[in-house]
Amino acid sequence: MRFTVAIDGPAAAGKGTISREVAAHFGFAHLDTGLLYRAVGLRALSGVDPLAAARALQPRDLEAGDLRSADVAQAASRVAAIPEVREALVDFQRDFARREGGAVLDGRDIGTVICPAAEAKLFVTASPQVRAERRWRELTGTGAQTTLAEVLEDVIARDRRDSGRAAAPMRAAEDAVMLDTSGMSIAQAVAAAIAAVARRLPAS
Ligand code: C5P
Repeated sequence: MRFTVAIDGPAAAGKGTISREVAAHFGFAHLDTGLLYRAVGLRALSGVDPLAAARALQPRDLEAGDLRSADVAQAASRVAAIPEVREALVDFQRDFARREGGAVLDGRDIGTVICPAAEAKLFVTASPQVRAERRWRELTGTGAQTTLAEVLEDVIARDRRDSGRAAAPMRAAEDAVMLDTSGMSIAQAVAAAIAAVARRLPAS
C-alpha cells in the first residue's frame, strides 16, 4: 500500500513527536525533512556552497550528530530560502513519500509543494510563546546555555523567514486538518493526529 501523511507546521509545535508516533502507530516510515535542510545548513556553515551541498546530500548525512543546534537551525532556514536548494531536495522526498508500506513526512511544505496529493495532511501549530518554552526546555535539558527570551526571538525570526520566503513558504494546505497543540498534552496531540489520519485510511 502507498499512503502519504504530510505533517507541516512551525518549529517546536510538536510536529516531530507527532510524526514519529503516527508513523509508529500505523507502521509507516518517517522522514523529518527539516534534517535535509539542517544537513545542507551545516555544510554551508563550514563554507560549502549550499547548492553543491544539497546536490551531494546522502541519506547518511541526516544522521550527523550536530544537526540539532540553534545555529544549524538558523543556517537551515537560510539555505531553505534558496529555490535551487529546495528543488535539489524534491526527488528524494517524493521517492520517500511513495515508498511501499506508507510514509509520514514532516516539514513546512509537504502538503503544499512536495506531496500535494498526500492522502492525509495535518498542519500542527502552537503559539510562539508555548513553542519557545518547549524548545527552551529541550535545549537546556541537553545542557545548552540559553534564555527563554533568546529562544523566543529565534522562533519568531525563523517563523518570519519560513513563512515570508518566496520559495515554498510555510503555510497550511487548504485541505489540511489544523491541529493547535498550545493547550494539549503530547498524548492528546498524538491521539488527535492518529484519529485524523485514521479517517483518511481506505476502509479494509
Ligand atoms: O523542522 P526543522 O526545525 O528541523 O527545520 C529547520 C529549517 O528547515 C526550518 O526552519 C525551515 O526553514 C527549513 N525547512 C523547510 N522545509 C521543510 C523542512 C524544513 O524549509 N520541509
